[in-house]
This record gives sequence, structure tokens and C-alpha cells, in this order.
Amino acid sequence: MLGLEDFIEEAIGKLREDIPGKAIIACSGGVDSMVAAALASRAVGDRLLAIYVDTGLMRKGETEEVRAMLSDTGINYRIVEAGAEFFDALKGVTDPEQKRKIIGERFIRVFEKEAGAFGAEHLVQGTIAPDWIESGDGTRDTIKSHHNVGGLPKDLGMKVVEPLRDLYKDEVRDVARALGVKASERQPFPGPALAVRCLGEVTPENAEIVREACHIVEDEIQKAASAGKMELPWQYFAVLLPTRSVGVQGDRRAYGKTVAVRAVASVDGMTATYARIPLDVLDVIATRITNTMKSQVNRVVYDITNKPPSTIEWE
Ligand code: XMP
Repeated sequence: MLGLEDFIEEAIGKLREDIPGKAIIACSGGVDSMVAAALASRAVGDRLLAIYVDTGLMRKGETEEVRAMLSDTGINYRIVEAGAEFFDALKGVTDPEQKRKIIGERFIRVFEKEAGAFGAEHLVQGTIAPDWIESGDGTRDTIKSHHNVGGLPKDLGMKVVEPLRDLYKDEVRDVARALGVKASERQPFPGPALAVRCLGEVTPENAEIVREACHIVEDEIQKAASAGKMELPWQYFAVLLPTRSVGVQGDRRAYGKTVAVRAVASVDGMTATYARIPLDVLDVIATRITNTMKSQVNRVVYDITNKPPSTIEWE
């Protein structure tokens, strides 16, 4: 990568050339899309509209947080509520690649509609290098179809502009800090959101369980890191498994769901090692998850695999 200042100047210049008219940007609130939005808005000002889609699969409090972040930056934005549509499209679907494709397609339909209303001919995306590398390019195997790469239809009526295409996550964070983008220290969050943390069918009920479990994992790990018990991992979250297991609730048999906790150390997400979380922190997480969701979850496990052979997300 060029020097930071040079990269920023060049990227803004290129965006100005690439976008003669209006553009929309798919803004998830993550560092990649917020940096892409910040660069594009510096390049074309109010000719850019940032679209945040509430898919019903966002983290707890995410929509409010992103709204505040977007308001703060002064970028022209719009929040689209589309939860019902996403759950509808995902009904009965359990295959991870199919889920990703459906979600990617839904996103595109929303963006097409918004672009039509705004008169945009360009779609800016926060795609970064690992997204397209892992999505396969004809020579590489498809590890996962990242929704911002694999879900684009051939007949998309907009030109795609990807200012961060050659950067890795750590480099995007450097650009974010240089631009004063608040999302710079946020942990990564996948485009298909909680759908890829809900193994099996994604129902509103399952999404709610994994949302609460992710919130508990984030909250307890952040508390433990602030108390000096551990370092903050690169990424940390919960996954809802499609298996049930036998447990005991008071003196009654329970047959409940299982939540896996995932936390990793990484630099760019391309490889990762599982985080050595102190056992007492895991203990607090497991107890809080099973107490909060007594009638639903009766088992919590910790994922101790590295990438490779695993990936960070489970789907
Ligand atoms: P994996 O699971 O492939 O993830 O080891 C590597 C990093 O990428 C994030 N991830 C995604 N990010 N769109 C994104 O923008 C996606 O479709 C996507 N899938 C995974 C993942 O959270 C991890 O940080």
C-alpha cells in the first residue's frame, strides 16, 4: 500500500473520476463500508447516499449505533427496514452458500430500488482483498461467497466502485484512523450478519437467540479486557448450533439448543488462532447465556480451532 495520505488522496481523486453523477453505498456500519463511505463522500459530497439495511439480522443495538455514526459524519444516509423480507426469503434454507446468495440478492434488490429513487448510477462497496480472494475468482476455490462479491447479479443496472479492493483489514483500520472514522476499532462483522451465525434455518426466534448470545459474549469479553484479565481478541461472538442436547433444568429433563463461543486473534482475518480466554471468563459467559435464555439454551461450548483448518465464522 502507498503511504496513508497518498492512498487517501489518490482514492478520493479516483472516486471523483469514477462517479460523474450520483452513487449509493451499501453501509453496514462496519469499518470497511464506513471508510468507503467517508472517502466517497469526500469525493462527491451529497451526490452520495449511504443506505443501511436493517435486515433483522443485526447485532443488538446496531441500527441505533449506525444511525448515530452516520449522523455524526454528515454523510447523506437512509435507513431501510427490511427484516420481514429477509426472513421470508430465508425460510427453510439451511445451506450456507445458499443463505449467502439469497442475502446478497435481497441486498441488491433493496439497493436497486433505492438507487432508482435517488437517481444513482454507481454502487460503491467496501469490498476488501480477503472478500474477493475467499469468494473465488475462477482460479481460486470459493471458500465463502462474501455477499458483497458473490451476490452481484450480471444485470446489475449500476457500475460498481470498490475503493478498498486492494487493502487488508489492518490497512483499512489505518485509513479509518487517518480519516477520523469512528468505526475504526469496531470488530469485523460479516455482511450476511447473524444469518451465518445461525446454523440451520434462520428464523426470527433463532436470530433473537444468537443476537442475545453475541451481545453477552461481547459484553463479558469487553468487561474482562477492561479489568485487565485478558487482551481484547480480534473478533469474538456466538454461534447458534442446529443441534439439541439433553440437559437438566431444576429437576426436569431439558432438550435445548447449543451456543458456541468463538474468539480469535488475527491480523487480517486470512489466518487466525483461537483466543486463550481465561476459564473464569468463559464460565461467566456460559452461565449468563444459559440463565438469560433458560428455556432455550442449555449448553455452551468453546471453539478451539484455528484458521486454517476452520474459518472464523462457522458458515
Ligand atoms: P472467515 O469466516 O472467512 O472470515 O474466516 C474472515 C473475516 O471476514 C468476515 N466475513 C465477512 N465479511 N462479508 C464481509 O464483509 C462477508 O460475507 C463475510 N464473511 C465473513 C468474518 O467475520 C471475519 O472477520
